[in-house]
Amino acid sequence: MKKIIKKIGVLTSGGDAPGMNAAIRAVIRAASYYKLESVGVYRGYEGLIEGDIVPLTARDVHHIIQKGGTILKSARSDEFRTIEGRKKAYDYLVKNEVDALVIIGGDGSFTGGMVFSKEYDFPVIGIPGTIDNDIYGTDFTIGYDTALNTAVEVIDKIRDTASSHNRLFFVEVMGRDAGFIALNAGIGAGAEEILIPEEDMGVDRMLISLEKSRRSGKTSSLVVVAEGDKTGKNVFELASYVEENLPQYDVRVSVLGHMQRGGAPSCFDRVMASRMGVKAVELLLDGKSNLMVGMINNEMVENDLELAVKEHHKINPEILRVSEIMSV
Ligand code: F6P
Repeated sequence: MKKIIKKIGVLTSGGDAPGMNAAIRAVIRAASYYKLESVGVYRGYEGLIEGDIVPLTARDVHHIIQKGGTILKSARSDEFRTIEGRKKAYDYLVKNEVDALVIIGGDGSFTGGMVFSKEYDFPVIGIPGTIDNDIYGTDFTIGYDTALNTAVEVIDKIRDTASSHNRLFFVEVMGRDAGFIALNAGIGAGAEEILIPEEDMGVDRMLISLEKSRRSGKTSSLVVVAEGDKTGKNVFELASYVEENLPQYDVRVSVLGHMQRGGAPSCFDRVMASRMGVKAVELLLDGKSNLMVGMINNEMVENDLELAVKEHHKINPEILRVSEIMSV
C-alpha cells in the first residue's frame, strides 16, 4: 500500500561535493511546493543516530545554492553499519515524525540507505553526490563538473610553470577508485599522459611515450594521475621511476588534494542538483522507494539503489581513445 508522506528528511553523507547545498535546497523547496514538511539531518547517518535533526523551511535554504560544501555537514558512519545504530536512527525518525528520507551521497551512503529502507520498510531515495562521478545509473554525479573544472584550472597554472622551466610535472587528482576526473581533466588540460584506476597503461609504456615526446621537441610535459591509478605506484614513486629512467627530465610533483572538493558549484551542478532534488521528492510522493535519481542524456531517470551500489559507472572507451590520440 502506498505510504502517505507528510514529512521528508534530507541528509548529506560521505565525501562532500560542490552542489550538495543546491540539492538540499531543491529537496526542501520541492517539499514546500507540495505542501510537505521537511527536516534536515546534520552529519549524515551520525546525526541521524544522535537525533541531530532540525526543521527546515523553504526560507531556511535561501542563498545556499552558490555555496560549496554542505550546510548539513557530512560524515562517514560506522555505527550505521550496525543493527543497533540503525535502530537508533529509526527511533529518531519516528520521534520526529519523518516519513521518508532523501540521501545525498555516494555508493557507500546508498548501501546504508538501502539496508535501512529494507529493514524498516522506510521510504528512501538517493541523489548521487560525489566528485568522483563513479555512480552507476547517471551520466554525472553532483560535484563532478565543478571538481573537473577546478582541476583543469589548476593544471593550466602548473602548465605555465612547467613550460617556463622545461619541466615534467606529475599532477595527482582525486579518484581513489575512479578515473573520471583524471581522464577528463587530463584531456581538457592537454596532458601528455593520463593514469587511471580502470586501465593499466603500464609504467614502461609511459616512459616510451615521454621519451618520444621529448624527441619530438616537447620541452615540458604533464602527466595526470588519479589517486588510485592501476600502476600501483603513487605519484611520488612514479616521478622517481621516471627520474631514474629518463634523467634528462627535470621532474616535479603536485598533489591537488581536497581543493577539488571545495568551491562554488558550477552552474551545471546547480541545475542538475535542483532537478534531482525535485525528482527525489516527486518519487516519494508517488509512493516510490529504494531508488536513485540520475540524469541520462539530460533526462531525469530513476534506478534501483541496489544497481547504483552493485554496478560500476564505466569509462567511455571512446574518451580513452581520444586521450591516446591526443598524446601523439
Ligand atoms: O569521495 C570522493 C573522494 O574525493 C575520493 O576521490 C578520495 O579518495 C576521497 O574522497 C578522500 O576523502 P576523505 O579525505 O574525506 O577521506
